[in-house]
Amino acid sequence: MPPPLSYGRQTIDDDDVAAVAQAMRAPQLTCGPLVDRFEQALAAYTGAPHASVCANGTAALHLAYAGLGIGEGDEIITSPLTFSATAAAAYYVGATVRIADVDARTGNLSVQSVEALVTKRTRAIVPVHLGGQPADLDELTRLARARKLYVIEDACHALGATYRGRRIGAGDSDAVVFSFHPLKNITTGEGGAILTRDARVKQRIDRMRHHGIERDPTRFDETPAGPWVYEVQELGWNYRLPDINCALGLSQLAKLDRFLDARRTIVGWYREELPRAFGVDGGVQAPAELADRESAHHLFAVAIDFPRFGTTRAQVMAQLAKAGVGTQVHYIPLLHHPLHASRCPGERARPRPGADLYYARTLSLPLYPALTRDDVIHVVTELRLALGVSR
Ligand SMILES: Cc1ncc(COP(=O)(O)O)c(C=O)c1O
Repeated sequence: MPPPLSYGRQTIDDDDVAAVAQAMRAPQLTCGPLVDRFEQALAAYTGAPHASVCANGTAALHLAYAGLGIGEGDEIITSPLTFSATAAAAYYVGATVRIADVDARTGNLSVQSVEALVTKRTRAIVPVHLGGQPADLDELTRLARARKLYVIEDACHALGATYRGRRIGAGDSDAVVFSFHPLKNITTGEGGAILTRDARVKQRIDRMRHHGIERDPTRFDETPAGPWVYEVQELGWNYRLPDINCALGLSQLAKLDRFLDARRTIVGWYREELPRAFGVDGGVQAPAELADRESAHHLFAVAIDFPRFGTTRAQVMAQLAKAGVGTQVHYIPLLHHPLHASRCPGERARPRPGADLYYARTLSLPLYPALTRDDVIHVVTELRLALGVSR
């Protein structure tokens, strides 16, 4: 039996291990020079003016909301198809979350459904680039600018994606957030980053990730009594990313284009094998890809018409797991979770047909750079068996 395949997995080579080992022998394990270097490399890669790294993607969302001044009484609008943290980080700052609907083809925010939710309290639109395919950024940004709202991209899946010829991060959004969790396109173990366009916002985010501490005397409220003085200027957290993790991030980022090529190739194999196994309209559809944007291919989420096969997703996942094929569902819509249902009581009644349809059908199949063509054939063959297709 071949080793089991998971739906996602990190790619760590000897040079990553060597980079981390070297960082561990350096004088500073945290707050050292690799933090700046990783931030500069991220800004250069994405085309964003500024980057701030931090402890994880959830902290990055928290810092983005707090750094832009979102707080009590404010509302953000986001997608129902996201990881809990997109909304939870808004609760951390005391904001309320409004949950729009998605386009059932892509799982990304429907601009119309966002527009219908804008109120006097709205401060930000938070698109999530599901699976790595960018949301409708131009339309969302136009809406945001007309209503004086921030755009904060939850780009945790989308490092390396492009939208209308621009890398994610090079556009006009007020903040763009990444996660470097092991299953993401590059990893730092745990880690995250915020890209910003405004130097003052970066300065505030950098201060907030380090307890709200200001060390530059030119920005002190009081004249310093001596060289030891720093000021805690506002509430912050310890959300720093150590140099050890930044070393891994730098090493991984240098390979990102290679990882993206590998992901694109593997997706191409799936796109050949799936119609071969199921026919063109055989009840299993590869994810819809829009022509004006290129996904970072974080996930390969197929849409399966389970009732047509006389089975359920639970049965299919269980059978695939027995055959050594790990799958996952991205995502259980936010309001299905007790936390979000209780935090957003006013949101529950509104129908979300796009999200319901997407959720009913979606299944993420294995996708990570080390997969071979034989692995893809194995996954598709086992999926056919699990769905009871015998032709
Ligand atoms: C869409 C999305 N947002 C936020 C996060 C939170 O990132 P982290 O796990 O690094 O805190 C994740 C990661 O799981 C994610 O997929």
